[in-house]
Amino acid sequence: MKLLVDSANLSQIKKLKNIFPVTGVTTNPSILAKESLLPQESLKEVNHLLGPNEEFHVQVLSENAIEMKEEAYRLLDNYRDSLYVKIPVSEQGYKAIGMLSKEGVRVTATAVFTVQQGILASLAGADYIAPYVNRIDNHNADGIELISKLSSFFEKEQIETKILAASFKNTKQIEDALLHGAYSVTAPPSLVREMGSHTGTSDAIKGFKNDYSQAFK
Ligand code: E4P
Repeated sequence: MKLLVDSANLSQIKKLKNIFPVTGVTTNPSILAKESLLPQESLKEVNHLLGPNEEFHVQVLSENAIEMKEEAYRLLDNYRDSLYVKIPVSEQGYKAIGMLSKEGVRVTATAVFTVQQGILASLAGADYIAPYVNRIDNHNADGIELISKLSSFFEKEQIETKILAASFKNTKQIEDALLHGAYSVTAPPSLVREMGSHTGTSDAIKGFKNDYSQAFK
């Protein structure tokens, strides 16, 4: 099981890595667009923040399979050769996933909205598939049910593709994704923090301190 941060914000990533058991980062073009640095600079800095065994998932912008493949190799050259290249599951995307996985490049098939897309991406050779839980729910479907079905299917067929659940808007979705078969989740910094906190915990800590200082002042 792995917890990744869905962000390119350097200070947030640093803070979270310092506190929580976060072992990787995922980005996409929209996430990079939120930062003040140029995308290449953000990616370079994030890459430096990550240890050699931590996961870095970076998405291609190209839409044509050959260009996706070329872009993937540029990402590997510029950042790290253990990088997971995120490829959206368009028709050209499946083709690129097939080509890259045959050459040993690690691939995360992203923007997965259906079980069928997940199966096709897995057959094409993706290491991870990333279902977009909240966006699936917004389409009146069930992101958690999709994770559950794909996870059982992969287990039954002894398929090695793993599920990296993504696109979360609340921590209950993250919990459900993990409990229903996601191997990894990637969450924005605010939700990672929220996962670890509860008013009951802060109240308990305050109570312990008060009781102790009242008794022994
Ligand atoms: C991560 O890999 C995905 O690109 C991301 O979680 C999508 O999240 P969003 O639906 O909040 O944009």
